[in-house]
Amino acid sequence: MNYFKTFVLLSLSLSLFITHTTTAMASSTLTSCSASSLPLPNGKSMPLLGLGCWKMEDAKQMVSLALQNGWRHIDSACDYGNEVEVGEGISEGLKAANLSREDIFVTSKLWNTYHSPEHVEAACRRTLKDLNLDYLDLYLIHFPIPLKFVPFETRYPPEWIHDPSSATENTMVPDPNCPTIQQTWAAMENLVEKGLVKNIGVANFNAALLLQLLQTAKIKPAVNQIELHPRLQQSRLVSFCQSRGIQVTGFSPLGSTGYVQIGMDRGEGVGLLENPDILSIASKHSKSPAQVLLGWGTQRNIAVIPKCSSLNRLKENLDVLDFKLDEEDMEKIAALDRNLRYNDPGVFCKGMGGDYPIWD
Ligand SMILES: NC(=O)c1ccc[n+]([C@@H]2O[C@H](COP(=O)([O-])OP(=O)(O)OC[C@H]3O[C@@H](n4cnc5c(N)ncnc54)[C@H](OP(=O)(O)O)[C@@H]3O)[C@@H](O)[C@H]2O)c1
Ligand SMILES: *[C@@H]1O[C@H](CO)[C@@H](O)[C@H](O)[C@H]1NC(C)=O
Repeated sequence: MNYFKTFVLLSLSLSLFITHTTTAMASSTLTSCSASSLPLPNGKSMPLLGLGCWKMEDAKQMVSLALQNGWRHIDSACDYGNEVEVGEGISEGLKAANLSREDIFVTSKLWNTYHSPEHVEAACRRTLKDLNLDYLDLYLIHFPIPLKFVPFETRYPPEWIHDPSSATENTMVPDPNCPTIQQTWAAMENLVEKGLVKNIGVANFNAALLLQLLQTAKIKPAVNQIELHPRLQQSRLVSFCQSRGIQVTGFSPLGSTGYVQIGMDRGEGVGLLENPDILSIASKHSKSPAQVLLGWGTQRNIAVIPKCSSLNRLKENLDVLDFKLDEEDMEKIAALDRNLRYNDPGVFCKGMGGDYPIWD
């Protein structure tokens, strides 16, 4: 609690420096800046608001509309199975909005089956080809979970289950090469050297894994992308990352809504968007509940990557940098923490003896 208060005060004082225009800041510490973007070590900064593309139907149209309506950061991944459509949306949106490639920030992610160093570059090149891009602004190791290789021709994206047609081998099969995080990371570093990606980072890493990585990394991870919403606040991990110059991106910032359709909401239903505390904070600031949840991230220098399916929501979700949650709001939200993680891949993989939580 003391920790959280300190953090709130720090965030509030930092917010004095916030402007709502595009930022171009040269700052020695990564977290002491900026309204609309966070500086990264290599190349341009990362916009605080990004469009998440997981489970996005008609990604071509949504991504194109997003770019035409002010969004500048797209969060993609091999695993989402829609990088071709996302790429078409990027091309169309850039053209329609008269933007150039350098005006936008595109993230993608290395899937678990490609952790062995010899597969990393091919996986990145496949993503670039699908997205129709020459480079990525950020490439992340999607999960710290190396799975057995699946050739592109066999299945793409390969997803979690090694052989969905097999009755006996129907679950996550670890990569028999046992690539270490350091080995995979070295291959990620090669992508930067080859100019295929500007920045590299990780997702779903905890502090212990980051410490391991930092010991041998030639290039420090630029970003850790983790599940973050008021039910899973991970405040110590956020603080650990930010204190070491690793920017944080919060995924599933609106909470469980997106997990309902795949049966992973853990009984919370639509939860946060209808939570009475979030509703009262929203009406106090004349904002929507979604805007409160997004502002809760951006105000603490955390990038947020909500997914949505309509033009109205694209506009609503981008319009979150013009208000400030005060200390009372922050304390109310702090009290909503339940350490409730929706994205636990074990839940996808019931073959290992039922519900198999990896993170709990
Ligand atoms: N690195 C990882 O392992 C990982 C894991 C999960 C997610 N992610 C990334 O994070 C992104 C976002 O996460 P997410 O899709 O799980 O969840 P989310 O963005 O928190 O929630 C998406 C849900 O919220 C609804 N929604 C969006 N804007 C709204 C608004 N203004 N008011 C009310 N409802 C609204 C959407 O509905 P409609 O679509 O109907 O508008 C959708 O059902 C993903 O798309 C992906 O890019 C990364
Ligand atoms: C498009 O952008 C370029 C460069 O910023 C500018 O010179 C040109 O006039 C713009 N075209 C239109 C149609 O707005």
